Amino acid sequence: MTQAIKDKVVVITGASSGLGEATAQLLSAQGAIVVLGARRVDRLQALADELIGSGGKALAITTDVSHYDQVKRLVDAAVETYGRIDVIINNAGLMPQSPLERLKVDEWDQMIDVNIKGVLYGIAAALPYMQQQKAGQIINVSSVAGHKVGPGFAVYAATKHAVLALSEGLRQEVKPYNIRTTVISPGAVATELPNSVTEPDIAEKVRNFYEIAIPADSFARAVVFSMSQPEEVDVNEILFRPTRQVL
Ligand SMILES: NC(=O)c1ccc[n+]([C@@H]2O[C@H](COP(=O)([O-])OP(=O)(O)OC[C@H]3O[C@@H](n4cnc5c(N)ncnc54)[C@H](OP(=O)(O)O)[C@@H]3O)[C@@H](O)[C@H]2O)c1
Repeated sequence: MTQAIKDKVVVITGASSGLGEATAQLLSAQGAIVVLGARRVDRLQALADELIGSGGKALAITTDVSHYDQVKRLVDAAVETYGRIDVIINNAGLMPQSPLERLKVDEWDQMIDVNIKGVLYGIAAALPYMQQQKAGQIINVSSVAGHKVGPGFAVYAATKHAVLALSEGLRQEVKPYNIRTTVISPGAVATELPNSVTEPDIAEKVRNFYEIAIPADSFARAVVFSMSQPEEVDVNEILFRPTRQVL
């Protein structure tokens, strides 16, 4: 168990697979109390049961992050059950890449709703508690696509650039409240994310790109690193990639 992680109450959105699931597992193994949100409640509950079975504390709450009331309910449940919220990881996201000319307007809406508004809703739900506590950490998940743009992923990159901008604005605003802010930007990590691509030719390109992907615990370790610093140390940005990734 890591002392800096033990007994921390950590809310994780998008915890039913990939980065969120791996982070819940690592944090729970290090003694954190994890409050898990996502839409696939069967997966979420199975994860919570697994963590509880290993001696951890976990709560699963069905959450669609594109609805503010559901994100608020998730965070409120953490505070009602465990008395506070130490960390929120605004991780839920999707990446249905396609060139703009294919006019996948519904998918643009979905990415804006989940990748941007979902993060904002997480901030809105957690911030009042953290201001009151005069403590807390808000971890947002951007991407290498928050730093780079290329053909085929303009909208996804726009949402992830937005997450970087929001995180930096948040960082500057929460100074009076002793709140830490971290934005983590992963490169290709092996998760279910490529499954959100609906255009068959693009899906194949993404699958090829993800051949170099690294395991999801790479992200979880970055979370643990940022959380484990002394309280006066605020790790604001982490950008990591597979060693073999060029972009
Ligand atoms: N994997 C990578 O290479 C990579 C690289 C850079 C950034 N990222 C970012 O990392 C984050 C996690 O993705 P991942 O790679 O772990 O992919 P993943 O395995 O597909 O996981 C995505 C998670 O987001 C959840 N989610 C999607 N829409 C949601 C909604 N409306 N409400 C609540 N939860 C929702 C999914 O749960 P439900 O479907 O059960 O709701 C799932 O738990 C995303 O923000 C992604 O953009 C990933």
